[in-house]
Amino acid sequence: MNIAVVGTGYVGLVTGTCFAETGNKVICVDIDEKKVERMKNGEIPIFEPGLDVLFERNTRQGRLSFTTKLDEAIEDAQIIFLALPTPPGEDGSADLSYILGVADKLSFLIKDYKVIVDKSTVPVGTSEKVHNILAKHLDEELFDVVSNPEFLREGVAVDDFMKPDRVVIGTSSSRARDVMKQLYEPFVRQGNPILFMDERSAEMTKYAANSYLATRITFMNEIANLCEKLEANVDMVRIGMGSDSRIGKRFLFPGVGFGGSCFPKDVQALMRTATESEYDFQILDAVLKVNTEQRRLLAKKIKTHFQDDLQGKTIAIWGLAFKPNTDDIREAPAMYIIDELLEAGAKIKAYDPEAMENVQKIYGDKIQFMDDQYEALIGADALAIVTEWTVFRTPSFKVMRELLKEPLVFDGRNLYDLERMQEQGFHYLSIGRNPVSVATSSKPA
Ligand code: UDX
Repeated sequence: MNIAVVGTGYVGLVTGTCFAETGNKVICVDIDEKKVERMKNGEIPIFEPGLDVLFERNTRQGRLSFTTKLDEAIEDAQIIFLALPTPPGEDGSADLSYILGVADKLSFLIKDYKVIVDKSTVPVGTSEKVHNILAKHLDEELFDVVSNPEFLREGVAVDDFMKPDRVVIGTSSSRARDVMKQLYEPFVRQGNPILFMDERSAEMTKYAANSYLATRITFMNEIANLCEKLEANVDMVRIGMGSDSRIGKRFLFPGVGFGGSCFPKDVQALMRTATESEYDFQILDAVLKVNTEQRRLLAKKIKTHFQDDLQGKTIAIWGLAFKPNTDDIREAPAMYIIDELLEAGAKIKAYDPEAMENVQKIYGDKIQFMDDQYEALIGADALAIVTEWTVFRTPSFKVMRELLKEPLVFDGRNLYDLERMQEQGFHYLSIGRNPVSVATSSKPA
C-alpha cells in the first residue's frame, strides 16, 4: 500500500519505518526542512534501539522517503496517518491546532478516496472534528477518518510496533475497516487481536490505558512510601502482589514518579475531559498530586540526610532520561531532582548514557556532565540513582567506595540488594525499603 505519514516525531517516524518494513511504500512529511534534509541524508533524529537498521534498509530499498511537501506525500497515498503533536495547553487540555490545521489543508488536496488516520493521542471526539473539517470542502465519499491510537513504549517502540499486544481501530466505515485490517494483518500473525470499535471508544482506550498504568505506578509508589514507615520491604510486597494473576508482575515498580511525554500529559488531558463533562475524576486528581510529590522524594531524602544544608556538597547523579534506552528527558524526574538539589546549594556531577546532550541544552554549565559513570563519583558526597540503565545494575562497588567521599547511595530505582549493600559497606537509601547502614568502617580497604 502507499502510505503518507504526516509528522516525523517519535511516533510518526517509528510508524512510517515499521510500515515500510512490511513492504508498504511510505512517504513521511514534515514542515521542519532541516529535519527532513537530515533524514534524507540517512540521519535519524531520535534515539530508539533497533530503528536504525530498519530505517537504513527501507530508505536504501526505496520504500521509505521524506518530503516537506504535503501534496506530494499524499498524492498516491491510500492511507494518511496524522502523527502530529498534541501538546498540553495551560489548562491541561490537548492542543489540537496541528491536527486540525493539517485536516484543513487535506480538505483542499484530496482528489480520490483516502483513509485519514489519527495516530496522535487525541481527546474523545477529535475524529468527528477532523471529519467535519474535511467535509467542509470534500465529498464524504472521498474519505473516512479512523482513530488508531499508538501504544508504543519509548526504548522498545520498534518491538511494540512490530509485535503489538493489540491494535485498536476506531471506525464506523466498513471500507476503512477493510483497509486497516489489510495494513495491520502482518503485525498480528501471532494471534494478537485487531480490535475494531467506534472512534470515540478507540480514543478513550488510549487515555484509559495510560491513565490506568500511571495510576498503577502511583499506587505502588504510595505502597512503597507506607512500607518505609512500617519497615516492610516493597520489593517483597510487589512480588507477593504481582504473583496474583489478576494483578500481574509487570509495571509495579515503585520509583521516582512517572515521567515522559505521555503519562503526565495524558492523565492531565483525561482530567480535563472529565471536568468538561462535569465528572469529578477523583483518582486521577490524586495520581497527579502523588506523582508531583514522588518526583521530589529522592531530593527530599538527600536533603534530610544532610540536614537541609547542601552548600559545598557534590551529588553525583546516574541517569537523566525519564527511563532507560531513550535520550528523552521530557518530564524526567531527574530534572525535578536536579532543580531541588541546585536550589539547596549542591553541585551536581551527572552521567547518562544517552540523554546528556539534551540536558545540557537546558542546564548549560549549571551542572557538570561526565563521560563516565565512575568519573561522576570522584569527590562526590553521595550518589543518586535516578534512571535504571542496565549499565548501573552491576557496578564495581569497590570502585564506587573508593571514589565517593562517603559510601552513600540514594537509589530511586531499587537496583541493589539490601544485604549486598550492607556487606559492601554502603549507607544505602532506596524506595520502600529499610535504609542500610554502613556495616564496617565507612571506607573498607
Ligand atoms: C507509555 C506507555 O507505556 C505507552 O503504551 C504509550 O503509548 C506511551 O506512554 P513510555 O512513556 O515510553 O510509554 O514509558 P513507560 O515505559 O510506559 O514508562 C512511563 C513512566 O513510568 C516512566 O517514567 C517509568 O520510569 C515509569 N514506570 C514504569 C515506573 O515508575 N514503574 C514501572 O513499573 C513502570
